[in-house]
Amino acid sequence: MRQQEPSAAQVWSDPAFATAWLGGDPQGEYDLLQLPRTIAAQLVADETPQPQLIVDIASGAGKFLSVLLTAFPEARGVWMDVSDTMLQQARKDLAGFGDRVYFTVGDMRALRAAGVPDGADVVLSSRASHHLDRAELHAFYAEAAGLLAPGGWLANLDHIGPEDIWDRRYRSVRRKHWSPRKPAPAHHHNYPLTSVGDHLDGYRAAGLTDVDVAWKAFYTCLFLGRRPQG
Ligand SMILES: C[S@@+](CC[C@H](N)C(=O)[O-])C[C@H]1O[C@@H](n2cnc3c(N)ncnc32)[C@H](O)[C@@H]1O
Repeated sequence: MRQQEPSAAQVWSDPAFATAWLGGDPQGEYDLLQLPRTIAAQLVADETPQPQLIVDIASGAGKFLSVLLTAFPEARGVWMDVSDTMLQQARKDLAGFGDRVYFTVGDMRALRAAGVPDGADVVLSSRASHHLDRAELHAFYAEAAGLLAPGGWLANLDHIGPEDIWDRRYRSVRRKHWSPRKPAPAHHHNYPLTSVGDHLDGYRAAGLTDVDVAWKAFYTCLFLGRRPQG
């Protein structure tokens, strides 16, 4: 009988795996995702200059949340993730924000059950929803959209599965020019990864408007959309 693969939540809850992943994740000037994180903050700031509540789902060490809390000094943040190892790292890395951050451990497939509050001006996620298949992704977007205040933003920065021809092109160019200095440990992905279309469909099915891909490089996209006002 074929052995069942562990779920992403189980893999990330393993302290050895989470610690190894954190050790390989780029920091500082080598962190190419600082640009899309900053773009997300700037797009929000232009129309929502004083968000009060920012929620980061599957937040890991809290890198995306950190950029938004820095951009919006009046805002409170909610950190949420399934992994206790990530919780320990995030408590250290986000310590400078003091009691502005509330931490809650749980599964992104059941946000309310995990203690994530309603009324967020911004719900973020990054590099986590690729663990979900299309149906789970749409359920995640529906629940996340339901947590937004009117006019609130959903920003998801994640890896997508391109068409085969683009997969070959990206792989070739990345292998030659963009190989990470220290590759992250291999972990469960939900192959085939959901596509750009799956994400955009999910945003719209969740009732979000102004949906777009605000940034894209190779496999990674920043999706943004808003809950309608009123
Ligand atoms: C690749 S890391 C990204 C962390 C962070 N968002 C970032 O971009 O730096 C994936 C994160 O998703 C979390 N995760 C995976 N499956 C999850 C689930 N079902 N519920 C909540 N968190 C999950 C992991 O614990 C891990 O922190």
